[in-house]
Amino acid sequence: MTIKKDPSKISGMFSAIAPRYDLLNRLLSGGLDRRWRKTAIDQLPVKDGVFLDVATGTCDVALEQEGRGAKARIIGIDFSHEMLKAGRKKTVGRQIHLGRADALRLPFRDAVFDGLTCAYGIRNFASLADGLKEMLRTLKPGGAVSILEFTTPSNPVVKFFYLFYFSRILPLVGRIVSGHPDAYTYLPMSVMNFPDRKKLAEIFTECGFTGVKIRPLTFGITDLITARKPG
Ligand SMILES: C[S@@+](CC[C@H](N)C(=O)[O-])C[C@H]1O[C@@H](n2cnc3c(N)ncnc32)[C@H](O)[C@@H]1O
Repeated sequence: MTIKKDPSKISGMFSAIAPRYDLLNRLLSGGLDRRWRKTAIDQLPVKDGVFLDVATGTCDVALEQEGRGAKARIIGIDFSHEMLKAGRKKTVGRQIHLGRADALRLPFRDAVFDGLTCAYGIRNFASLADGLKEMLRTLKPGGAVSILEFTTPSNPVVKFFYLFYFSRILPLVGRIVSGHPDAYTYLPMSVMNFPDRKKLAEIFTECGFTGVKIRPLTFGITDLITARKPG
């Protein structure tokens, strides 16, 4: 089944779950989400410069990146007002600048960022290719991306148990804790409808990225995608 990704519905859904988003992340991943974001930042080859965190949500990636480089300037964008509101509370007094924007139309000039991150955002884009092309456009030549996205484990035994958890337990806990009827049903559906590793690598390459590497983390529950802009 393919799912239609209507931007206003997606941003409305994230706004509705924003107050409980961090709590559910910790709960549903058993705290692993923090480690995955740390790994994503570790993989950025440059620590100083100007960085964009696309679909920054409640800013956990931006906060993880802060302090990695003495002269790093971090900007986060998201199209959900409430996710940004939660992020703003967490980033008071920090060197992180936030703005509301659509990842498919980034309000930045060409070639301004040294590095770009995006955790669990690309799966929600109405057009993955358009989002990736915007990332490429705003990156400096040689600039790097480090992107996290959920996937499903390839080991059949792990996959069996994981899919049970992901499609039965997670939606139930998500619905009870967030109070949203279907946000945590959308999560497994959108992951299962997302391109597999091989196809994803092809899409990144077709969009113009080079050195595309996809590394499974924690049995392949999450993928870390790294790539560069040629030049
Ligand atoms: C699963 S959350 C991830 C938030 C954060 N990056 C993290 O690691 O927790 C996905 C976020 O992507 C944002 N998002 C999805 N599509 C977007 C788009 N086209 N433009 C901007 N933000 C988008 C949502 O509003 C939401 O905050």
